Amino acid sequence: MLRKNFSNFNFNFYNQNKNNPISKYLRYNYNIKNITNITKIKINKTNKFTKSTFAFSSSSSSKDQNRSEHFQIQSHTQTEDKASLLLTMENKAGVLAKFANIFASNGVNLSYINSRPSKFLTKEKRCVDFYVDCEATLGSNNLEKALEELKEKGISIDVLNSEIVPWFPKNKLDLNEIGRVVLSAGEQLSSDHPGFKDEVYRKRREEIVTISNQYDMRDELNVPTITYTEEEKLVWKTVWDKLIPLFKKHACEEVKENMDHFIKEVGFTREDIPQVKDISAYLKKETNTIFRPVGGFLSQREFLNGLAFRVFHSTQYIRHKSVPLYTPEPDIIHEFLGHSILFANKDFADFSQEIGLASLGASDEDVEKLGNIYWFTIEFGLCQQNGETKIYGAGILSSPKEIEWSISDKPKLHPFDLNKMAKFPYSITDIQTDYFVAPSFAEMKKLVIKYGDELKKPFNVSYNISDDCVEIDRKIKTFKI
Ligand SMILES: [Fe+2]
Repeated sequence: MLRKNFSNFNFNFYNQNKNNPISKYLRYNYNIKNITNITKIKINKTNKFTKSTFAFSSSSSSKDQNRSEHFQIQSHTQTEDKASLLLTMENKAGVLAKFANIFASNGVNLSYINSRPSKFLTKEKRCVDFYVDCEATLGSNNLEKALEELKEKGISIDVLNSEIVPWFPKNKLDLNEIGRVVLSAGEQLSSDHPGFKDEVYRKRREEIVTISNQYDMRDELNVPTITYTEEEKLVWKTVWDKLIPLFKKHACEEVKENMDHFIKEVGFTREDIPQVKDISAYLKKETNTIFRPVGGFLSQREFLNGLAFRVFHSTQYIRHKSVPLYTPEPDIIHEFLGHSILFANKDFADFSQEIGLASLGASDEDVEKLGNIYWFTIEFGLCQQNGETKIYGAGILSSPKEIEWSISDKPKLHPFDLNKMAKFPYSITDIQTDYFVAPSFAEMKKLVIKYGDELKKPFNVSYNISDDCVEIDRKIKTFKI
């Protein structure tokens, strides 16, 4: 809702304050440059967090110049315990060791070093700039001692400001902070949804959503179970009967192979609907992936951020019985028969995680591009195996109609090109007209790592496998709305 308004309006804030985090955030994410007036700011500071409530007025730039809108934004900024410095020194052999030793002898670890020639040179003296991030806070004894020694050695020091990026989870438990805002079934279902007018269906969905929302990442395998009704099982059986024979003919080898494991070890069967709990336990064992139940739509950023931690957000409700072979939104048939099976393949799970890692702290524009890549691979990907076109995308696998269409000679097939698919248009309501044909999952993983490395982000991310958390190498501030 808020994003829509941002793109539709120019904001004018009272009391110009360009250093205000919200101003920076809006400039960074929305390219809104003329932020001049903020009407009301209430800020509560704690040690590491600044929680702010902003209320401000805006005026429309397009249709109605005099109209005034009021918004309330809950936000917080979070700063890393790091210091960013610019060190300038004469460019001589051994300069790197010279300052690195000073930090080391004072017990200050460096997380990031980048050098470039200084902008201003003379014939006699050439200097070099080192951009350095330290794992220490400004004002701490160790860092202050190191800075003093550096100054004594004639090294010039500038303290740099933190870059501000959109908030992102740093560990799995932070995922508890996302996916909590869920619309009720009445709000979720649009008027063209098959269950829109079915009060019983809407009530049932709300019941399942309430159960899903009991889940807590602190007990990640303890997924609440759903007792599915006979009516829901009938929908499952109807789709199973259509899809499974098509899988045998057209799904990629990895899907077929893992489907056998899901039947034997997870309990996939025509007769009963599997539980997220069992899928998650199996995937945890196979590829350290988990399925987290969620009650409704997540933003693209939240969903992709989850993948960074090998967490797939899954619904627990099923489509409406009136049209069992169609759903306008993800449901358990799409999540289980479309998505879950391939997450047992390590290269595929790695590929998905790389998309997620690239999305952490990325600009809205880059998140959208990564969303496109997700769409044309994980949702609607095709591949070539033994000279035949095969399917691995969940959006295709969960639609009998699209399975037949995708392997016909009607759609347009493109060679696998992440840069092209990042900007390629698609429809979320119709069958796809274009597909990208993938190489192996291992090759896709290499390509998406390269794509992620080339994104313009002011920090790098490392995934700590032991603790399921990410570590970053630069001093940044995150901002959450
Ligand atoms: Fe999906």
